[in-house]
Amino acid sequence: MTGHIPVLLEEVLAFFSRMHGGACLDLTFGGGGHTQAILEHLPDATVLAMDQDPVAARNAASLQENFSGRLRFEARNFADLENIQESGFTGVLMDLGVSSFQLDDVSRGFSFREDAPLDMRMNPQQGQTAAEFLEKGSLREIETALRDYGEEPRWRAIARAIIEARGKGLLQRTASLAALVEQHAPRTAPGRRRIHPATRTFQGIRIAVNRELECLQDTLPVAFKKLAPGGVLVVISFHSLEDRIVKRFFRKIAGLSQHKNDPQPQQERQILGNLLTKKPIVPSPDEIKQNPRSRSAKLRAICKGRDL
Ligand SMILES: C[S@@+](CC[C@H](N)C(=O)[O-])C[C@H]1O[C@@H](n2cnc3c(N)ncnc32)[C@H](O)[C@@H]1O
Repeated sequence: MTGHIPVLLEEVLAFFSRMHGGACLDLTFGGGGHTQAILEHLPDATVLAMDQDPVAARNAASLQENFSGRLRFEARNFADLENIQESGFTGVLMDLGVSSFQLDDVSRGFSFREDAPLDMRMNPQQGQTAAEFLEKGSLREIETALRDYGEEPRWRAIARAIIEARGKGLLQRTASLAALVEQHAPRTAPGRRRIHPATRTFQGIRIAVNRELECLQDTLPVAFKKLAPGGVLVVISFHSLEDRIVKRFFRKIAGLSQHKNDPQPQQERQILGNLLTKKPIVPSPDEIKQNPRSRSAKLRAICKGRDL
């Protein structure tokens, strides 16, 4: 298996145990940590697993040997879920973002810690690379990536520098992009945790290149639709914009206003599900100590049907 440590594992298992097994759907298989735990703890469970990264298929192959007939893997983007025939799942999991195996494989271009081609695609067979995005994207798209997805305080200066650097080879590799960003972002933004100056820019570009928010927004309703009555949808997010999308969708399903300016009259709202987490569940200090990558995780869960 890979070095990816599954986040909030006990909590995920508790939600998946409510229906004592059955057909489960893991939309973000990654290193397979959550799926493996589900198969081990729920002997009556089967898992349909998906991941858009073809490398995840290799991770799935070894698990398939150990749990014969109980795990099927589909190398797909979860935005394609509508085209999967199966439904009636007792549990659906979305553990968003990137896996450790993606971050740690330098050649994938997710990290600025070593030099590599600037790729960042979770599915390297599809879509434009990060380098192509920076060379060809509009100023507005690049600003959105840096400001909204990366929450980079120096987004304006960095976006301008990226536009000026076009055609000079500086946007082709992780190291040259990191150096460019470093010229425009201070080492430590005031009042913030000490992180490398390129961290936020890289995160924002990754989210844009993989269309992470759009895929999430489009897939949540399909994932909910594919639940059996009483089934649970569990989503772990790592970014405030992701969490906001999940929170609003879950509130809508629960028949609540999505946000404080939601204009929809209460009598028009339908209650299709029951919130299982009024506030998101976050990792304990112990979990964060053992797995620092879990620190920004937020888990929300909802079950289908109103009286369950
Ligand atoms: C945080 S990891 C999941 C880790 C996994 N739960 C485990 O325990 O090993 C997220 C995974 O979701 C995949 N992923 C992200 N967005 C996706 C999408 N739109 N469609 C399919 N897979 C996606 C990534 O390729 C990555 O492998």
